[in-house]
Parts: sequence; structure tokens; C-alpha cells
Amino acid sequence: MENLIDIRGVTHAYQTKHGPLPVLDQLDIRVPQGEFCAVVGPSGCGKSTLTRLVAGLMKPDRGEVWLHGEKVTSPRKTVGMAFQNPVMLEWRSIIENVMLPLEIVAPGMAKSEKAARAEHLLEMVGLKGFETKRPSELSGGMRQRASLCRAIVHKPDVLIMDEPFGALDNFTREDLWQTMRDLRAAEPFTAVLITHDLRESVFLGDQVIVLSGRPAHTQYVLDVDLPKDRTIDVLYEPKAVEMLHLLRDQIRIAQRRDAGVH
Ligand SMILES: Nc1ncnc2c1ncn2[C@@H]1O[C@H](COP(=O)(O)OP(=O)(O)OP(=O)(O)O)[C@@H](O)[C@H]1O
Ligand SMILES: [Mg+2]
Repeated sequence: MENLIDIRGVTHAYQTKHGPLPVLDQLDIRVPQGEFCAVVGPSGCGKSTLTRLVAGLMKPDRGEVWLHGEKVTSPRKTVGMAFQNPVMLEWRSIIENVMLPLEIVAPGMAKSEKAARAEHLLEMVGLKGFETKRPSELSGGMRQRASLCRAIVHKPDVLIMDEPFGALDNFTREDLWQTMRDLRAAEPFTAVLITHDLRESVFLGDQVIVLSGRPAHTQYVLDVDLPKDRTIDVLYEPKAVEMLHLLRDQIRIAQRRDAGVH
């Protein structure tokens, strides 16, 4: 299968006043078209840096990022992004916020068509009836649902998410995982999900990449061999529990490396 995302030997250091801070070291990640790649790793190891490189917001010192057979050298319109705290424009209604990327990517599209597309997505994530509300009138979980709609409204090839569910309580988070699963079944995209939550990585991922401590390289790749239409219950079955233990062990190894203990 074609690799839609191909990260090859990416090495990057930030220049700080104390000298260079190496963050990524010869990082390799390949995500086939339509697959969901979850990335976990110790705090501060370079995960958010990785998302910026994939989106073309930054260039690596060495190595290459390829999307759909094209080398990424500048910000890409065909990438959708979602973050932990969704930034919404308060002076716009929810549906107008969701339509925003279409205004940039497809300025010629009729307003009614943009609205229909946004409405369809909002209905899919359970926000029918909230289209004309302002962002502050929604709960955190609802705002995050709307922000997922906004991230995919323009049908991006690639969806990059940096801890999108991190600020939510456990039950809301599990609800959102299921929303994500359903969105993915309805709207094919290739995704990279940065998360601290190993259960989330196993529930949503086709593969889980464990990054080493900083400077990060790919320490371990887990193929999540579970049904695509998995339910939360799957996480309590022996196969998933075994994967969670394995990932936990890998994170421990990464943290030890991070602390300089080898
Ligand atoms: N613009 C910057 N200039 C200098 N240093 C930076 C910059 N951005 C990040 N860093 C440093 O690079 C390292 C990696 O940061 P990054 O945000 O990518 O980590 P992370 O894995 O996303 O962390 P977390 O899990 O806490 O979100 C950190 O030590 C951070 O302090
Ligand atoms: Mg981060």
C-alpha cells in the first residue's frame, strides 16, 4: 500500500540561548493511505515538533517529510489540524467556525454548499441544533467535537491531532473516541494522533509508534491487530490488555532513556 505520510530520517534541533537543543533524531514514520497512526512518548520528547514538521509549518534540519509523494517544504492546505484547546472565533457561530477552512481552501464554493457540508458533519458528531450557538455556549467536549468537524470539513488528505482529547474527562473522552471512529469510517483520511493516553492509542490506532526520550527516534512500532469497528469493550479483552502492558513497558524504557539512565 502507498505510504501517504513518509517521514524519513528527520532530525531537528531548536536553537536556544544555551545552544542547540536536539529534539528529533533520525525519526522514521510511515503511514499508509487511510491508516490511523497514534504516537506516544515521554513528555517533551518532540511530539508537537513532529506535528509542525508534518504540517509544513517548520523545516527539519535533516531528513524529509513526504505527503502523497510530494516533499513538504511549506504549509499545506490539504492538512487538517486539531489541538488540545480548540481555538474558536467567538464572533462566529459554531457552523461559521466549522466552515472557515472551506473559505480558505475553496473560496469559490457556494455559501449554501459550505453550510450543507458543515451541517452534515455537525450532525454526525451529535451537534445538530447547536449550529447557530456561539463557541462559549458549548461545553468543552462539544467544542472539541466542533473542532474535529472544522479539521476535516475541507476533506484533508491528512489529519494531524495533538492531544485533542487531553483536556476532557474520561467519559467524554471515550465518547469522542467513538465519534472519531465513526467519522473515520464515513470520511476517509490518514491521521496522526499525538496522545498521552495508551488506551486512546490502542482504540484509535492502526499502528502505535512509541518515541524514545529526547532526541526522539522511533523506538517501537505496534501493529494494532484489532477489528476496525472496535468498541470500548475491546480494550478490556486480553489482546488489548496485552498491548497496553507492552506499550507501558516501552514508555518506561523511553522515560529511562530520557532521564539519562541506560
Ligand atoms: N520553539 C521552540 N524553541 C526552543 N525550544 C523548543 C521550541 N518548541 C519546543 N521546544 C523544546 O523542544 C522540546 C520538545 O518540545 P515538544 O513541544 O515538541 O514536545 P512534546 O513531546 O510535544 O511535549 P508534551 O508531551 O509535553 O506536549 C522541549 O524540550 C521543548 O522545550
Ligand atoms: Mg506537545
